[in-house]
Amino acid sequence: MATSIVILAAGEGRRMRSKRPKVLQPLGEGTLLDHVLQAAAAASPAQLIVVVGHQAQQVQAAYPALNCEWVHQPRQQGTADALACALPAIPADHGVVVLYGDVPLLTPDTVRRLADRAQQAVVLATTQLADPTGYGRIVRDDAGELLEVVEERDATEAQRRLCEVNTGMLAAPARWLRALLPQVDCDNAQREYYLPAVLPLARQAGHPLVGIAIDEEEAAGANDRAQLAGLEARLRRRRVKALLQAGVTVRDPARLDVRGNVVCEADVELDVGVVLEGEVELGADVHVGAHCILRNCRIGPNARIEPHSLIDGAVIGAGCSVGPYARLRPGTRLAERARVGNFVEVKAAGIGTGSKVNHLSYIGDAELGAGVNVGAGTITCNYDGRAKHRTEIGDGAFVGSNTTLVAPVSVGAQAVVGAATLLRHDAPAAGLTFTAVEQRTIPDWSRADD
Ligand code: UD1
Ligand code: CA
Repeated sequence: MATSIVILAAGEGRRMRSKRPKVLQPLGEGTLLDHVLQAAAAASPAQLIVVVGHQAQQVQAAYPALNCEWVHQPRQQGTADALACALPAIPADHGVVVLYGDVPLLTPDTVRRLADRAQQAVVLATTQLADPTGYGRIVRDDAGELLEVVEERDATEAQRRLCEVNTGMLAAPARWLRALLPQVDCDNAQREYYLPAVLPLARQAGHPLVGIAIDEEEAAGANDRAQLAGLEARLRRRRVKALLQAGVTVRDPARLDVRGNVVCEADVELDVGVVLEGEVELGADVHVGAHCILRNCRIGPNARIEPHSLIDGAVIGAGCSVGPYARLRPGTRLAERARVGNFVEVKAAGIGTGSKVNHLSYIGDAELGAGVNVGAGTITCNYDGRAKHRTEIGDGAFVGSNTTLVAPVSVGAQAVVGAATLLRHDAPAAGLTFTAVEQRTIPDWSRADD
């Protein structure tokens, strides 16, 4: 039994007060729509349709490679009208699952539950909310049977007190929807064609109505910035909980942000204010200090990332020490037990086993061997204004503080480069290389205006 999933994403989202279409507002690592798409994909539907209208081009442009059918809703006349725009593209024998582009925390399981029954009934996913403000209320008869959904603006005082709400997610056979949607009118406070209005119509037509209860967590919609921030917090809680269950120590679950896919081995410890983005892998016993940002990186077992470090696109070996205040940019590779200290920036560079760059340095487009010691204030001058050039430093080399390495240049194995050297030519292996600058003193000197 084939299923078509229709995601409604044409609305203006006026309450966001944004230049950006609502479904492209950020949530976690992506947009609101990303999350809905992910849940939809997990159900492997035969057909995926996204209905766009307001700022349609912008929404479509954000998904150049998405395998779906885009349908245009010319005027945003309500959710029933949005679905009606999609129906002609759906084969009559399909079951239809409708998802809202601004209800992003739904789980794949809920989508599957809807899809499983989409051929037999009009299925509505509902939930109980302590504060149902803004949501459509579920009205049932004395026997508990679903009757209708009443939007807040159309509800009576008594109906507003109902705490069971419409989550927006609905399923039904395509052929029923074809018959029912044209009967939906806009006789309501907003003069819109409401999708939940198909419920009483379906009942009149003798179709079964089924309510499925879903977790409150999944039902939250994002109509304004406050709700968007609320969703971010929920998403964070959900992901932190998964990390805790995987054996990670999280110092304060309220102060950890997970905006991607994080895989942790046992006994990882994350201090407060840590942000994990993209694809992050942390080996056993990794310690991440307070206020670090880790983006698309892999960190080996027992490494320590000290506070206020930014790690982006780096691979860090076992037992390394990074920070505090280090910045590792894409293409950084630290071999085992390497140390990168405070106010050090590394980009597109390999740092060998046990090597140290401990203070105030820039290492870019470079390859350092094992056991190298780079003194404070060492700079690789990798860019001559036109092209990037490489620096190579051999095993066991010692580079004195405040050295300027003008690339392309190399320092041989076991070489020593004296402090404050301006290295324009290669430093041979094992030798001592330095630029001699004579130190002078002018005795009895006084400042002019003294
Ligand atoms: C809707 C439901 C409400 C439910 C709530 C759950 C209706 C009439 N009301 O209210 O019962 O409790 O969601 O979050 O359905 N859209 C279109 N075209 C339109 C209008 C809307 O594509 O013409 C899309 C929007 O982009 C959005 C979704 O449909 O993704 C829901 O629209 P929205 O205006 O946010 O509905 P709510 O007022 O939240
Ligand atoms: Ca909404």
